[in-house]
Amino acid sequence: MLAFRSAPSRPPGSLALLLTFVVLIGLAPAVVAQDATPTGEATPVAVGVGQEPFGTVDGEEVTRYTLTNGSGMSVAILTYGGIIQSIMVPSRDGELANVTLGFDSFDGYAAGHPYFGNITGRYANRIAKGTFELEGETYELAINNEPNTLHGGEKGFDKYVWDAAVLDDGIGVRLSRTSPNGEEGYPGTLEVEVTYTLTDANELQIDYLATTDAPTVVNLTNHAYFNLAGEGNGSILDHELQLMAGNYTPVDETLIPTGEIAAVSGTPMDFTEPHAIGERIRDDFGQLVIGRGYDHNYVLDREDDDTLQLAARVVEPTSGRVLEVLSTEPGIQLYSGNFLDGSVIGASGRMYRQGDGFALETQHFPDSPNQPDFPTTVLNPGEEFRSTTVYAFSTD
Ligand code: BGC
Repeated sequence: MLAFRSAPSRPPGSLALLLTFVVLIGLAPAVVAQDATPTGEATPVAVGVGQEPFGTVDGEEVTRYTLTNGSGMSVAILTYGGIIQSIMVPSRDGELANVTLGFDSFDGYAAGHPYFGNITGRYANRIAKGTFELEGETYELAINNEPNTLHGGEKGFDKYVWDAAVLDDGIGVRLSRTSPNGEEGYPGTLEVEVTYTLTDANELQIDYLATTDAPTVVNLTNHAYFNLAGEGNGSILDHELQLMAGNYTPVDETLIPTGEIAAVSGTPMDFTEPHAIGERIRDDFGQLVIGRGYDHNYVLDREDDDTLQLAARVVEPTSGRVLEVLSTEPGIQLYSGNFLDGSVIGASGRMYRQGDGFALETQHFPDSPNQPDFPTTVLNPGEEFRSTTVYAFSTD
């Protein structure tokens, strides 16, 4: 049974207050939504934050928080890895579907998975050959993706149970943990907070904050895979994608950036105008062959360095669901689910095959610690790492 903490009161006359009231008196079928568990029975849900046990790992309890707004959307977050377990959003006909890949029970996550929906850190994406230098010291990281380190190493931020606190203002939950000095080879004790907030405008906002007691490198993101037709509903190759990026960082055969910032113009990498993800994915273009599809960091066309700006827009033509990604980050990794290979069965009981989900990971560029010309990922004591990404859902 979900225990709900109700949404905070808002100024009289606001839509949220009205919808909260409507839910409470039970007069609005449109907001009597399905429970966030895709396999769960349809039950009325309350606006606010629900909380329930979701399993245990190494003797630690994992909790699932369900954020539900007054506009028909709910998001489930696990304290394990900060995983976004489900995102229920309406289609243009008001039909709810879970648009993120994942599992309906903890067993799937415990068995291992390709970073479904989790916080990725201490360094998202790859660091070449698992080594970097900082202030004259050489640091050695685990090689967990030959010959490089990937997504924080053997036991990255995705494999820890985080502390959690429900927000007093807004529909949200704040996760926190201390990453000790030397964890996975990284220097400095890192204090990290990741806050998930669901707005009444169907936006999931993620705010990252980190501080350190010694110089280190940080690159945090969320690794949600999306399928706007609903997870388990097949390929995302028909989704139409636009990226606000005129340049990208080409990679070598091990998916490490060469250091070049290349124009997308005239190549199948160009999403400055909307294109179906699959339209050119099989072109004989060296970068696509290396990645087995799209697995590239795009350099966002930013007007300045620290405001929230539109980075990507994705439309699923059949359901009409639209995802817009806004971020303060300089880059975004387009990953077209190239390494999904049918080895895991998702929440709906269907297997995930190549191209059944895409990720848009807002980030600093891969391998920045070894690339002096890329925006720096160094964090020093006394500084704050702050980053915000918004996944905004609507319909076309
Ligand atoms: C990487 C891919 C990797 C995937 C899953 C993405 O961020 O760029 O190369 O296969 O994550 O680990």
